[in-house]
Amino acid sequence: MLKDFQEAVLQGIPSELPNPKEYDKSVNHAPKRKEILTKEEKKLAIRNALRYFDKKHHDILAVEFKQELEDYGRIYMHRFRPDYEITARKISDFPHKSTQAAAIMLMLSNNLDYAIAQHPHELITYGGNGAVFQNWAQYLLTMKYLATMTNEQTLAIYSGHPMGVFPSHKDAPRVIVTNGMVIPNYSKPDDWEKFNALGVSQYGQMTAGSFMYIGPQGIVHGTTITVLNAGRKIAKNGEDLAGKLFVTSGLGGMSGAQPKAGNIAGVISVTAETNEHAAKKRHEQGWVDVLVFDINELVEKVKQAKQDKKVVSFAYVGNIVDVWETFYEQDLFIDLGSDQTSLHNPWAGGYYPVGLTYEDANEMMANKPDEFKKYVHESLIRQTDAINKNTARGTYFFDYGNAFLLEASRAGADIMHEDGIRFRYNSYVQDIMGPMCFDYGFGPFRWVCTSSNPEDLLKTDQIACDVLEEIMKESPIEIQQQMADNIKWIKGAQENKLVVGSQARILYADAEGRAKIAEAFNKAVESGFITAPVVLGRDHHDVSGTDSPYRETSNIYDGSSFTADMAIQNVIGDSFRGATWVSIHNGGGVGWGEVINGGFGMVLDGSDDADRRLKSMLFWDVNNGISRRAWARNDGAMFAIKREMNRTPNLTVTFPNLADDNLINDLY
Ligand SMILES: NC(=O)c1ccc[n+]([C@@H]2O[C@H](COP(=O)([O-])OP(=O)(O)OC[C@H]3O[C@@H](n4cnc5c(N)ncnc54)[C@H](O)[C@@H]3O)[C@@H](O)[C@H]2O)c1
Repeated sequence: MLKDFQEAVLQGIPSELPNPKEYDKSVNHAPKRKEILTKEEKKLAIRNALRYFDKKHHDILAVEFKQELEDYGRIYMHRFRPDYEITARKISDFPHKSTQAAAIMLMLSNNLDYAIAQHPHELITYGGNGAVFQNWAQYLLTMKYLATMTNEQTLAIYSGHPMGVFPSHKDAPRVIVTNGMVIPNYSKPDDWEKFNALGVSQYGQMTAGSFMYIGPQGIVHGTTITVLNAGRKIAKNGEDLAGKLFVTSGLGGMSGAQPKAGNIAGVISVTAETNEHAAKKRHEQGWVDVLVFDINELVEKVKQAKQDKKVVSFAYVGNIVDVWETFYEQDLFIDLGSDQTSLHNPWAGGYYPVGLTYEDANEMMANKPDEFKKYVHESLIRQTDAINKNTARGTYFFDYGNAFLLEASRAGADIMHEDGIRFRYNSYVQDIMGPMCFDYGFGPFRWVCTSSNPEDLLKTDQIACDVLEEIMKESPIEIQQQMADNIKWIKGAQENKLVVGSQARILYADAEGRAKIAEAFNKAVESGFITAPVVLGRDHHDVSGTDSPYRETSNIYDGSSFTADMAIQNVIGDSFRGATWVSIHNGGGVGWGEVINGGFGMVLDGSDDADRRLKSMLFWDVNNGISRRAWARNDGAMFAIKREMNRTPNLTVTFPNLADDNLINDLY
């Protein structure tokens, strides 16, 4: 079996055609993409696809690819999907000449694992269009290149297409990934549809196209931190969240983490979900405690939970608008409120308007899109009105990076601040993640044990916890809370049983924490305490890697939030400071053309080289963003970078002089 797998990988694109594959209805498939290509462009797409294959197969494949383009709007090359199981097997199982390249094979296999990927046959990991590759030929070629390359070579991947393996040197990245990079004037959603259908570009989301996806655990940690800190913002006397109520919506891919995070944070949560299947799935998985179908029953149950100060999560199978309106009418006070419907995609299933059943909405969006748009607008206006009434009573509402405020404003809802420039409400990055985490350098650091052995993960958890506890003894008051939260998380990590796929862990940490944890891991690999190399990485949703004006950089107020220098500087800096692979993407989370985001992977193999690289690269990977945030005059970042300069004599960051507000205001 293992031999068959290894031989198949080394073969790359088979010289003889494999048998065609049946369309497997038991698998979750990507929707048919909209018709976008002209006749001439369709010919170009087929000509492009045939480039991967020997001419002798072109007669058969040309007809087949034409059919795929008609059936799915894309050419996935289904016939070439391998028969072996794609999964994060232990590193030694991957045929290789370079351990670094083998680790990358493990990571990308995890992103395509059928148990993990959202649409595995279409090579989509999450978010509906977050692709690892555009087609199976790209996958097969990439695996072969990785299996045969050495530490003196670098593989260049253009939006899934492996352009080639080039001579380099041992300190260079083994792989450079770019996804969806286009000329800025051609970065509208339909441009993506067209380039992707032509087979020349792809949407890599954030961790999908960078081989760094680790399942839902990342989202649970981030959401827990957000809910906890939202709770602290509203606490009048430092009290915790006991007996307080959090109302939100969405039990989908990422949003499904909300009830679980609510429970960990100790709040009563109500999450509305219009799709009964999604709600039931989360209930079966144990991610939400109680399913409720009737709004009056929900009111009673929530009142009781408030009285008992019981930590519990309710899924309301229905529309979020009804919850906001009914709770207001019934005098049920909502302490915290948010929304995680997929409003980054409002016209194609991301938002279900009130007043239509789930089925009717699906029918209308496909057949009467203009009418559907009106329903969405009316629903957003009603939802905003109800939120406004509740916030007038004292509810703290925040946008959850799903474009709620943006779409509500486009719908003409009463959502603008009286200054006419800002929205009435802030986003979770403006209020919470930015000032409390990113500005101090805290972000979603993660690692994967390439032995694929849970015992190694347990050992890394312990090492990371020891390191953080040691650092916390000397931490300044400004970051004591963050340190305590992260130590609590890592202590409870095993118990929360969040591993799906590779043996991975996420842990928010700052520059000092990340470097010290990495150093300790490398030593543990060297001594043999951890039995195989450890891969380090992070979500792109971090301090330095992502420029995104409505999300990661929404708390940058010097006018630079629409620039993307930080993300580009970051990926260039990481690549020459020792990353094993780097990636830079257009799109991810908030949509194509709305964000530039990048990340890295780094293999710790216990060597002195790894020790040198981790110190150099992790320092830059965090402090680059802190410097930019400090230059934008963010308090936490100014504090953090000054502290870093005191620690690091070699570091000189340009520091802002703060102008007197009166001086500026008197000018106009
Ligand atoms: N969790 C995070 O940390 C995070 C961070 C940033 C952004 N987001 C954003 O949150 C959004 C949700 O992400 P996802 O992966 O869960 O998407 P998803 O599409 O898988 O889930 C959204 C769910 O909302 C439900 N829904 C839609 N309209 C509704 C309504 N009116 N009432 C009740 N339920 C409704 C849908 O049925 C769907 O199940 C996205 O826009 C994403 O970019 C999440």
